[in-house]
Amino acid sequence: MKPVKITDTTLRDAHQSLWATRMRTEDMLPILTDLDDAGFFSLEVWGGATFDVCLRFLGEDPWERLRLIKSMVKKTPLQMLLRGQSLVGYQHYPDDVVREFVSLSVKNGIDIIRIFDALNDVRNMVVPMEAAKAAGAHVQASVVYTISPVHTTKHYLDTATALVKLGADSICIKDMAGLLTPFKAYELVALLKKELGIMIHLHSHYIGGMAVGAYLKAAEAGVDVIDTASVPLAFGASQPPVETVVRAFQETEFDTGLNLRHLFRIAKYFEALRKSRGFDRGVTRITDMRVFEHQVPGGMISNLVSQLEEQRALDRIHDVLDEIPKVRAELGYPPLVTPTSQIVGTQAVLNVLSGVRYKLVPGEVKAYVRGLYGQPPAPMDPEIQKKIIGDEEPLTVRPADILEPGIAKAERESADFARCREDVLSYAMFPQVAKKFFEGRECGVIPKEEISNTPKTPKTQPALLTKEDSKMNLKEIKELIKIIDETEISELNLESDGVKVSIRKGPRVVESSTIPVHQPVLAQAAPVLAAQQAPSSEVASLKAPEAIVSENTETVTSPMVGTFYNAPSPEAAPFVELGQLVKVGQSVCIIEAMKLMNEIEAETEGKIVQILVENGQPVEYGQPLFIIEK
Ligand code: CO
Repeated sequence: MKPVKITDTTLRDAHQSLWATRMRTEDMLPILTDLDDAGFFSLEVWGGATFDVCLRFLGEDPWERLRLIKSMVKKTPLQMLLRGQSLVGYQHYPDDVVREFVSLSVKNGIDIIRIFDALNDVRNMVVPMEAAKAAGAHVQASVVYTISPVHTTKHYLDTATALVKLGADSICIKDMAGLLTPFKAYELVALLKKELGIMIHLHSHYIGGMAVGAYLKAAEAGVDVIDTASVPLAFGASQPPVETVVRAFQETEFDTGLNLRHLFRIAKYFEALRKSRGFDRGVTRITDMRVFEHQVPGGMISNLVSQLEEQRALDRIHDVLDEIPKVRAELGYPPLVTPTSQIVGTQAVLNVLSGVRYKLVPGEVKAYVRGLYGQPPAPMDPEIQKKIIGDEEPLTVRPADILEPGIAKAERESADFARCREDVLSYAMFPQVAKKFFEGRECGVIPKEEISNTPKTPKTQPALLTKEDSKMNLKEIKELIKIIDETEISELNLESDGVKVSIRKGPRVVESSTIPVHQPVLAQAAPVLAAQQAPSSEVASLKAPEAIVSENTETVTSPMVGTFYNAPSPEAAPFVELGQLVKVGQSVCIIEAMKLMNEIEAETEGKIVQILVENGQPVEYGQPLFIIEK
């Protein structure tokens, strides 16, 4: 008998992939005992996006969640996902932050830490692995699986071998986009088992339907553990259902020993939860099958859709999916997994929406090209590199080597709010978000998303408009202008016979008809019809500072929907103040959108004569932010 063991991902990856990570601690507690009794190898319950979403959207302390889970799960090891030197965030953190975060994770209840680096750059895994080992956790090191000319079988074996030398207790093959074919799974697992002789764990996503096949072949090749989710949170962008896999292995030497009746009881709970919260089932849409072409992983597809919805451009999803492989090749074939999936995905979104490739480059993309995430798997396109960082030489050392220690700074800055070491670490990773959470906690009102019965994931197929559908004549455009005028829809982006048309409401704070309309950066490449559109009375009545503009002024508008920040961190000095002189290319603020901090640069030289938004304020696409006097 060679029983295959199973890790349940329902409380982490599954709801991250299907429900935008919106399961709350209160949703988890009633089923923990049943999960603990099921006989899983481990429960993946923490890390990945759960930490950020707890603080940012759910008004929950992620550490408290972990402690509560630990208090109820007595038998089954708890597992977390750690993004190497990026921990549970989107940038590399200094070593002291990494060491203490890992140590506190174990102290609060984690037994198994699955560590990966988005670029399979082993240097970025050294410190987290050391820290996990020192804390007494099981160190599971991952090789991220992707497909590219440089990601050969040898690459995976070399990477895994290096990780075993660094002290890995087990190796995970992390197939975040469901790209691993059953026969490739057999080949890789058999090779790693033979060469390394340690525990091999296979993590895959259902998406295109290959994961169940991959798990069966991996079992034949000697895989030790596989990842599944309870059926209401399985399929689609999530893991395969545990019930299917358990049944498939019955009456074979791989029998998992799990009890289907018990698993169905767990499924019944999650199905009731799903219905009560209005969440969607995991489904594979026909467009999702294109994963075999674009390699966009599960968690990222729903992100892209919501990014495009947020930017009111859902109809461009096909263009973005076409753009992603181009950006990925130009940036040296990074695997698409957090944070590189956000980096590639957001650059692709900006390339498509702005109509000019690499005109808008978020800070994180610049940092990637500078080598601040590690060594890209293949050389970058030299032209694109030059466009983004000019003649600057990318970094060749381990990125964290150039970072200043972060703990002392976080201690200092969070002194008024932090009640414990865990708070200091939350602040060290997410200063803006943690500060907001702590402030709310101080006054007893933690801001949190309301529970609604409307799904957090889109119900409709993202492909709202195909190119064929969107061909239209002038009459249709006029009708659309009318829709924009008469409804709350503020923008429609359309493509007709190769001509891209962007129709918007006028800037909402401008009332005078003599005011020249500033053309937002994103719309510059397209004929903008918005100039002719008077703002509707409802929109114009919004109370916001009135922009005073003249021929001598230039309005800086928000190129995207997001949150306005006047400084890089809550304690830092603002980028600009009233009356200050700015130069072309000087950063004036940050718009946080699509999980990235986008520095907005002045396009004119002059004096800041008006600041129209407040720190932390949500801003709309095209909304005036500053007035600069030339
Ligand atoms: Co995953």
